[in-house]
Amino acid sequence: MKKGAIGIFDSGYGGLTILKEIVKALPDYDYIYLGDNARTPYGTRSFDVVYEYTLQAVKQMFDMGCHLVILACNTASAKALRSIQQKDLPNIDPTRRVLGVIRPSVEEIPNLTESRSVGIMATLGTVSSLSYPLEIEKLNNGAPIKVTQEACPMWVPIVENKEIDTEGADYFIQKNVNQLLQQSPDIDTIVLACTHYPLLAHRIRKFLPANIQLIEQGSIVADKLIDYLQRHPEMEEKCSKEGSLQFYTTEKPATFNDKASFFMGTEVEASQLRL
Ligand code: DGL
Repeated sequence: MKKGAIGIFDSGYGGLTILKEIVKALPDYDYIYLGDNARTPYGTRSFDVVYEYTLQAVKQMFDMGCHLVILACNTASAKALRSIQQKDLPNIDPTRRVLGVIRPSVEEIPNLTESRSVGIMATLGTVSSLSYPLEIEKLNNGAPIKVTQEACPMWVPIVENKEIDTEGADYFIQKNVNQLLQQSPDIDTIVLACTHYPLLAHRIRKFLPANIQLIEQGSIVADKLIDYLQRHPEMEEKCSKEGSLQFYTTEKPATFNDKASFFMGTEVEASQLRL
Protein backbone atom coordinates (compact mmCIF):
# COMPACT_ATOMS: atom_id res chain seq x y z
CA MET A 1 0.00 0.00 0.00
CA LYS A 2 1.37 3.37 -1.06
CA LYS A 3 0.75 6.19 1.40
CA GLY A 4 -0.88 9.36 0.10
CA ALA A 5 -1.59 13.00 0.91
CA ILE A 6 -4.82 14.12 2.56
CA GLY A 7 -7.04 15.70 -0.11
CA ILE A 8 -8.88 18.96 0.60
CA PHE A 9 -11.51 19.97 -1.94
CA ASP A 10 -13.58 23.12 -2.42
CA SER A 11 -15.38 24.82 -5.29
CA GLY A 12 -12.81 27.62 -5.12
CA TYR A 13 -10.84 29.54 -2.50
CA GLY A 14 -13.08 28.84 0.51
CA GLY A 15 -11.47 25.52 1.43
CA LEU A 16 -8.22 27.38 2.05
CA THR A 17 -9.77 28.62 5.34
CA ILE A 18 -10.10 24.96 6.36
CA LEU A 19 -6.72 23.87 4.96
CA LYS A 20 -4.94 26.65 6.86
CA GLU A 21 -6.30 25.46 10.21
CA ILE A 22 -5.71 21.78 9.41
CA VAL A 23 -2.07 22.44 8.47
CA LYS A 24 -1.64 24.47 11.66
CA ALA A 25 -3.03 21.59 13.76
CA LEU A 26 -1.40 18.72 11.82
CA PRO A 27 1.72 20.14 10.12
CA ASP A 28 3.50 16.82 9.55
CA TYR A 29 1.07 15.39 7.01
CA ASP A 30 1.07 15.92 3.23
CA TYR A 31 -1.85 17.78 1.67
CA ILE A 32 -3.25 18.25 -1.81
CA TYR A 33 -5.68 21.16 -2.22
CA LEU A 34 -8.00 21.25 -5.21
CA GLY A 35 -10.14 24.29 -6.01
CA ASP A 36 -12.68 24.00 -8.82
CA ASN A 37 -12.37 27.73 -9.48
CA ALA A 38 -13.33 27.39 -13.15
CA ARG A 39 -16.81 26.17 -12.16
CA THR A 40 -17.37 28.11 -8.95
CA PRO A 41 -19.83 28.98 -7.44
CA TYR A 42 -21.49 25.69 -6.51
CA GLY A 43 -23.95 27.35 -4.14
CA THR A 44 -26.45 28.29 -6.82
CA ARG A 45 -26.22 25.01 -8.76
CA SER A 46 -28.65 22.09 -8.64
CA PHE A 47 -28.18 18.99 -6.53
CA ASP A 48 -27.23 16.87 -9.57
CA VAL A 49 -24.61 19.27 -10.85
CA VAL A 50 -22.92 19.73 -7.45
CA TYR A 51 -22.91 15.95 -7.00
CA GLU A 52 -21.42 15.35 -10.47
CA TYR A 53 -18.68 17.99 -10.06
CA THR A 54 -17.81 16.84 -6.54
CA LEU A 55 -17.60 13.19 -7.56
CA GLN A 56 -15.25 14.11 -10.41
CA ALA A 57 -13.02 15.96 -7.96
CA VAL A 58 -13.01 13.11 -5.44
CA LYS A 59 -12.08 10.57 -8.14
CA GLN A 60 -9.31 12.89 -9.31
CA MET A 61 -7.90 13.13 -5.79
CA PHE A 62 -8.06 9.34 -5.38
CA ASP A 63 -6.09 9.06 -8.66
CA MET A 64 -3.54 11.44 -7.14
CA GLY A 65 -3.05 8.93 -4.32
CA CYS A 66 -5.27 10.39 -1.58
CA HIS A 67 -6.83 7.77 0.71
CA LEU A 68 -8.76 10.42 2.63
CA VAL A 69 -10.53 13.39 1.04
CA ILE A 70 -12.22 16.19 2.97
CA LEU A 71 -14.95 18.15 1.24
CA ALA A 72 -14.00 21.57 2.64
CA CYS A 73 -17.19 22.95 1.16
CA ASN A 74 -20.58 23.02 2.86
CA THR A 75 -22.48 22.98 -0.42
CA ALA A 76 -20.68 19.85 -1.61
CA SER A 77 -21.02 18.30 1.86
CA ALA A 78 -24.76 19.05 1.81
CA LYS A 79 -25.48 17.89 -1.71
CA ALA A 80 -22.91 15.23 -2.58
CA LEU A 81 -21.29 13.70 0.50
CA ARG A 82 -23.96 11.18 1.45
CA SER A 83 -24.38 9.85 -2.11
CA ILE A 84 -20.63 9.55 -2.55
CA GLN A 85 -20.21 7.75 0.79
CA GLN A 86 -23.12 5.38 0.33
CA LYS A 87 -23.41 4.89 -3.42
CA ASP A 88 -20.03 5.55 -5.01
CA LEU A 89 -17.33 4.62 -2.50
CA PRO A 90 -18.30 0.92 -2.29
CA ASN A 91 -17.78 0.69 -6.08
CA ILE A 92 -14.75 2.94 -6.46
CA ASP A 93 -12.75 1.71 -3.46
CA PRO A 94 -14.34 0.80 -0.12
CA THR A 95 -11.07 1.41 1.72
CA ARG A 96 -10.97 5.15 0.91
CA ARG A 97 -12.82 7.77 2.91
CA VAL A 98 -14.57 11.06 2.14
CA LEU A 99 -15.52 13.38 5.01
CA GLY A 100 -17.39 16.70 5.08
CA VAL A 101 -17.59 19.86 7.18
CA ILE A 102 -21.24 19.91 8.26
CA ARG A 103 -21.24 17.14 10.83
CA PRO A 104 -18.15 18.40 12.72
CA SER A 105 -19.77 21.84 12.99
CA VAL A 106 -23.17 20.48 14.02
CA GLU A 107 -21.58 18.39 16.78
CA GLU A 108 -20.14 21.57 18.31
CA ILE A 109 -23.24 23.78 18.10
CA PRO A 110 -24.96 22.55 21.32
CA ASN A 111 -21.78 23.49 23.27
CA LEU A 112 -21.67 26.96 21.78
CA THR A 113 -25.16 28.44 22.20
CA GLU A 114 -26.60 29.56 25.55
CA SER A 115 -29.83 31.05 24.19
CA ARG A 116 -30.46 27.81 22.20
CA SER A 117 -31.01 29.93 19.10
CA VAL A 118 -28.42 29.81 16.31
CA GLY A 119 -28.08 31.45 12.93
CA ILE A 120 -26.73 29.60 9.91
CA MET A 121 -25.33 31.77 7.13
CA ALA A 122 -24.66 29.74 4.00
CA THR A 123 -25.11 29.42 0.26
CA LEU A 124 -28.56 28.98 -1.23
CA GLY A 125 -27.72 25.32 -1.91
CA THR A 126 -26.78 24.57 1.70
CA VAL A 127 -29.79 26.47 3.07
CA SER A 128 -32.29 24.77 0.77
CA SER A 129 -30.83 21.31 1.50
CA LEU A 130 -31.94 21.84 5.15
CA SER A 131 -28.82 19.87 6.17
CA TYR A 132 -28.08 22.08 9.20
CA PRO A 133 -31.57 22.14 10.79
CA LEU A 134 -32.03 18.42 10.16
CA GLU A 135 -28.60 17.38 11.45
CA ILE A 136 -28.88 19.64 14.50
CA GLU A 137 -32.22 18.11 15.36
CA LYS A 138 -30.80 14.62 14.92
CA LEU A 139 -27.55 15.05 16.86
CA ASN A 140 -28.59 17.40 19.67
CA ASN A 141 -29.75 15.55 22.75
CA GLY A 142 -30.06 18.57 25.06
CA ALA A 143 -32.73 21.31 25.12
CA PRO A 144 -34.12 22.01 21.61
CA ILE A 145 -32.16 24.46 19.46
CA LYS A 146 -33.92 26.94 17.21
CA VAL A 147 -32.15 27.18 13.84
CA THR A 148 -32.61 30.21 11.60
CA GLN A 149 -31.02 30.16 8.17
CA GLU A 150 -30.03 32.98 5.85
CA ALA A 151 -28.79 32.42 2.29
CA CYS A 152 -26.13 34.93 1.25
CA PRO A 153 -25.80 34.43 -2.53
CA MET A 154 -23.57 37.45 -3.10
CA TRP A 155 -20.91 36.60 -0.54
CA VAL A 156 -19.04 33.92 -2.52
CA PRO A 157 -18.73 36.11 -5.65
CA ILE A 158 -17.45 38.92 -3.42
CA VAL A 159 -14.70 36.64 -2.09
CA GLU A 160 -13.88 35.02 -5.44
CA ASN A 161 -13.53 38.46 -7.04
CA LYS A 162 -11.48 39.83 -4.14
CA GLU A 163 -14.04 42.57 -3.48
CA ILE A 164 -13.90 41.93 0.27
CA ASP A 165 -12.86 45.32 1.57
CA THR A 166 -15.32 47.40 -0.41
CA GLU A 167 -18.49 49.36 0.26
CA GLY A 168 -20.32 47.01 -2.12
CA ALA A 169 -19.38 44.06 0.09
CA ASP A 170 -20.58 45.93 3.19
CA TYR A 171 -23.95 46.58 1.56
CA PHE A 172 -24.66 42.87 1.01
CA ILE A 173 -23.14 41.76 4.31
CA GLN A 174 -25.22 44.20 6.35
CA LYS A 175 -28.36 43.29 4.41
CA ASN A 176 -28.01 39.53 5.13
CA VAL A 177 -26.98 40.01 8.75
CA ASN A 178 -30.01 42.26 9.39
CA GLN A 179 -32.36 39.85 7.63
CA LEU A 180 -31.09 36.99 9.81
CA LEU A 181 -31.39 38.89 13.08
CA GLN A 182 -34.84 40.22 12.19
CA GLN A 183 -36.07 36.65 11.82
CA SER A 184 -34.71 35.65 15.26
CA PRO A 185 -33.49 38.42 17.58
CA ASP A 186 -32.56 35.85 20.28
CA ILE A 187 -29.69 34.36 18.24
CA ASP A 188 -26.45 34.29 20.27
CA THR A 189 -24.32 32.24 17.84
CA ILE A 190 -23.88 32.56 14.10
CA VAL A 191 -22.15 29.79 12.17
CA LEU A 192 -20.37 30.78 8.98
CA ALA A 193 -21.58 27.65 7.21
CA CYS A 194 -19.75 28.34 3.96
CA THR A 195 -16.00 27.98 3.88
CA HIS A 196 -15.63 31.19 1.89
CA TYR A 197 -17.21 33.34 4.58
CA PRO A 198 -14.34 33.44 7.13
CA LEU A 199 -12.56 35.58 4.54
CA LEU A 200 -15.32 38.15 5.20
CA ALA A 201 -15.42 37.69 8.99
CA HIS A 202 -13.80 41.05 9.81
CA ARG A 203 -16.46 42.83 7.72
CA ILE A 204 -19.33 40.73 9.13
CA ARG A 205 -18.34 41.53 12.74
CA LYS A 206 -18.84 45.25 12.06
CA PHE A 207 -22.58 44.63 11.71
CA LEU A 208 -23.06 42.25 14.64
CA PRO A 209 -24.06 43.17 18.20
CA ALA A 210 -21.22 42.38 20.64
CA ASN A 211 -23.20 39.59 22.38
CA ILE A 212 -23.32 37.44 19.24
CA GLN A 213 -20.44 35.05 18.61
CA LEU A 214 -19.33 34.31 15.08
CA ILE A 215 -18.19 30.74 14.49
CA GLU A 216 -15.68 29.81 11.78
CA GLN A 217 -15.39 26.14 10.88
CA GLY A 218 -11.62 25.81 10.25
CA SER A 219 -10.45 25.05 13.78
CA ILE A 220 -13.51 22.88 14.48
CA VAL A 221 -12.84 20.72 11.40
CA ALA A 222 -9.12 20.52 12.28
CA ASP A 223 -9.89 19.33 15.83
CA LYS A 224 -12.33 16.73 14.52
CA LEU A 225 -9.75 15.50 12.03
CA ILE A 226 -7.21 14.97 14.83
CA ASP A 227 -9.87 12.99 16.65
CA TYR A 228 -10.80 11.02 13.50
CA LEU A 229 -7.18 10.01 12.81
CA GLN A 230 -6.79 8.87 16.42
CA ARG A 231 -9.93 6.77 16.20
CA HIS A 232 -8.98 5.34 12.79
CA PRO A 233 -5.32 4.21 12.95
CA GLU A 234 -5.85 2.14 9.77
CA MET A 235 -6.53 5.40 7.89
CA GLU A 236 -3.83 7.37 9.72
CA GLU A 237 -1.25 4.81 8.58
CA LYS A 238 -2.16 5.49 4.94
CA CYS A 239 -1.44 9.23 5.22
CA SER A 240 2.05 10.23 4.15
CA LYS A 241 3.98 12.62 6.38
CA GLU A 242 6.56 14.82 4.73
CA GLY A 243 4.90 18.13 5.55
CA SER A 244 4.24 18.97 1.88
CA LEU A 245 1.48 21.14 0.46
CA GLN A 246 0.43 20.97 -3.20
CA PHE A 247 -2.20 23.16 -4.84
CA TYR A 248 -4.30 22.45 -7.92
CA THR A 249 -6.95 24.59 -9.58
CA THR A 250 -9.21 24.14 -12.57
CA GLU A 251 -8.62 27.84 -13.41
CA LYS A 252 -5.49 29.57 -14.64
CA PRO A 253 -2.79 29.07 -11.98
CA ALA A 254 -1.61 32.69 -12.16
CA THR A 255 -5.01 33.99 -11.03
CA PHE A 256 -5.28 31.30 -8.37
CA ASN A 257 -1.76 31.86 -7.03
CA ASP A 258 -2.31 35.54 -6.53
CA LYS A 259 -5.52 35.21 -4.54
CA ALA A 260 -4.61 31.97 -2.74
CA SER A 261 -1.32 33.51 -1.53
CA PHE A 262 -3.34 36.42 -0.18
CA PHE A 263 -5.77 34.09 1.63
CA MET A 264 -3.11 31.66 2.91
CA GLY A 265 -0.69 34.40 3.94
CA THR A 266 2.15 32.45 2.23
CA GLU A 267 3.34 32.06 -1.36
CA VAL A 268 1.18 29.56 -3.29
CA GLU A 269 2.15 27.93 -6.61
CA ALA A 270 -0.65 25.90 -8.10
CA SER A 271 -0.82 23.60 -11.11
CA GLN A 272 -3.81 23.49 -13.44
CA LEU A 273 -5.91 20.40 -13.98
CA ARG A 274 -9.08 19.66 -15.88
CA LEU A 275 -11.87 17.69 -14.26
N1 DGL B 1 -17.26 27.25 -0.10
C1 DGL B 1 -18.48 26.61 -0.41
C2 DGL B 1 -19.28 26.26 0.81
O1 DGL B 1 -18.73 26.06 1.88
C3 DGL B 1 -19.39 27.19 -1.45
C4 DGL B 1 -18.99 28.21 -2.38
C5 DGL B 1 -19.74 28.15 -3.70
O2 DGL B 1 -20.90 28.59 -3.76
O3 DGL B 1 -19.14 27.62 -4.60
O4 DGL B 1 -20.49 26.15 0.73
